[in-house]
Amino acid sequence: MSIGYYTPTKVVFGAGAENQTAEMLREFGASRVLIHFGSGSVKRTGLLDRVEKNLSDAGIEYVELGGVVPNPRVSLVRKGIELVGSEGIDFILAVGGGSVLDSAKAIGYGAYGGGDVWDFYCGKRKVEGTVPVGAILTLAATGSEMSDSSVITNDETDPVYKRGVSTDFGRVKFSILDPELTYSVSAYQTSCGAVDIMMHTLERYFHQGDSLDFTDELSFTLLREVIKWAPVALDDPQSYEARANIMWCGTLSHNGLMATGNPNKGDWACHQIEHELSAEHDVAHGAGLAAVWGSWARYVLDVDPERFVKLGVGVFGESDPVKTIGKFEEFFRSIGMPTDIKGLGLDFGEAECRTAARGVTFQDARTIGNFKVLDTEDIYRIYMMASGK
Ligand code: NZQ
Ligand code: ZN
Repeated sequence: MSIGYYTPTKVVFGAGAENQTAEMLREFGASRVLIHFGSGSVKRTGLLDRVEKNLSDAGIEYVELGGVVPNPRVSLVRKGIELVGSEGIDFILAVGGGSVLDSAKAIGYGAYGGGDVWDFYCGKRKVEGTVPVGAILTLAATGSEMSDSSVITNDETDPVYKRGVSTDFGRVKFSILDPELTYSVSAYQTSCGAVDIMMHTLERYFHQGDSLDFTDELSFTLLREVIKWAPVALDDPQSYEARANIMWCGTLSHNGLMATGNPNKGDWACHQIEHELSAEHDVAHGAGLAAVWGSWARYVLDVDPERFVKLGVGVFGESDPVKTIGKFEEFFRSIGMPTDIKGLGLDFGEAECRTAARGVTFQDARTIGNFKVLDTEDIYRIYMMASGK
C-alpha cells in the first residue's frame, strides 16, 4: 500500500470569496484574461458583472467568451483557442459549472500545445502543458475545480464522441468556492450534482486490491453528508450550511483524497457507461449516473459482497448488500433522480443497448472497470438491466 497525492490548487472558500478574484489572478501572474462562462446564469445572477468590476478595479484586462453548454462542445473550445492567440491571453478564468471549467481546461491545452485539440481527448497526443486556468465555481457537482480531468464532447463527428483526459496540467491554479453562488442552482441540477459527488467517491471505493480503512471511513462520511444535506438544499436552496457542506464534499470527492491508499484509481465503469448516454442523448451527467448505478452494482455484487457489506454498514447501518443497493436507489429517487434509463426519457431496447455498449468499448477495442473488468457483452447486459429488460 502506498499513497500518491498531488493536489496543487489554491482554494479560497467562503461567502464573498469571488471578491478575491483579482488578487488570485495577480498572484498567478495574469495580465490579460479570457473570462469563460456558460449560457447565461452568470449574467442573470450578476456574478459576471461583479467579477468583471473586480478585475477592472485592479487594472486587469479581460476578454469574454460565453456560450458553454452542458456536455461542453469542442467547437467552442476551438473558438476559445483562437481567441487566446489573437487576443494575447495569458490566463483563462472559468466562471460556471463543471462544463465551463472543462471547456476552459481544453482551451488551455489547445492554446499551449497547438494542432488539433481533439488529439488530446482521443488519445493521439499527450497534454504537455497548458495556459494557466483559474475557476470560480457556481455548481457543486463534478469536482473539476480540483480534479485532473476535463471532459469534452466532439459535436463535429457522427456519432458524437464524449471523451475525458486526465493530466496534472488539468489541475487549476486556484478555485474560488463561494457556496452562496450555488443558491440559484435549480433543484434538478442540485440533485444531479449530489449524485455526481457521491459517484466520484463510490467509483473510487470499488476497486481491486487493498484499501486503507481511513479512506473508506472518509468515504462513508462524505456519502452520509451528501445524503444529509442534499434534501436540505432542495427544501431551502439558500441554506448556507447545506450548500457549503455539499460544495466541499464535491471538491474533496474528486481531488484524489478518496483514492488514497488504493492501489489504483478506482472502477469508473459507471462513468464510462454514463458518458455514452450523455454523448449521444445529451442527458445530465448526474442523472445518467443515477440511472445506471444500481444495475451496475447488482451486476458486479458477487465479485466482492463484503465490500458492499462494509459500505452499507458505514453509510446506512445496513449489513445486507442487496438492501444497500436499494437504499442508494431510494435516496436517488427521493431527490428526484431516475434509477433507470427510462427515467432519463430514453426508450432503450436491445438494439440501443448493443450500440451503446459498443460505443463504450470503442467498438470492442477496450474493456472498462476495475472492481470487475467489463467487456461489451457485460456492458450490454448492464444497459439491458437498466432498461428493465
Ligand atoms: O450555462 P449556464 O447558464 O451557466 O447554466 C448551467 C447549466 O445549464 C447551470 N448552472 C450552473 N451554475 C448555475 C447554474 N444555474 C443557475 N445558477 C448557477 N449558479 O447548470 C447547468 C448545468 O451546468 P454544467 O456545468 O453542465 O453541470 P456540471 O457542473 O454538472 O458539469 C457537467 C459536465 O462535467 C463533466 C460531465 O461529464 C459534464 O460534461 N464532468 C467533469 C468532470 C471533471 N472535469 O472532473 C468529472 C465528472 O465526472 C464529469 O464527467
Ligand atoms: Zn462524474
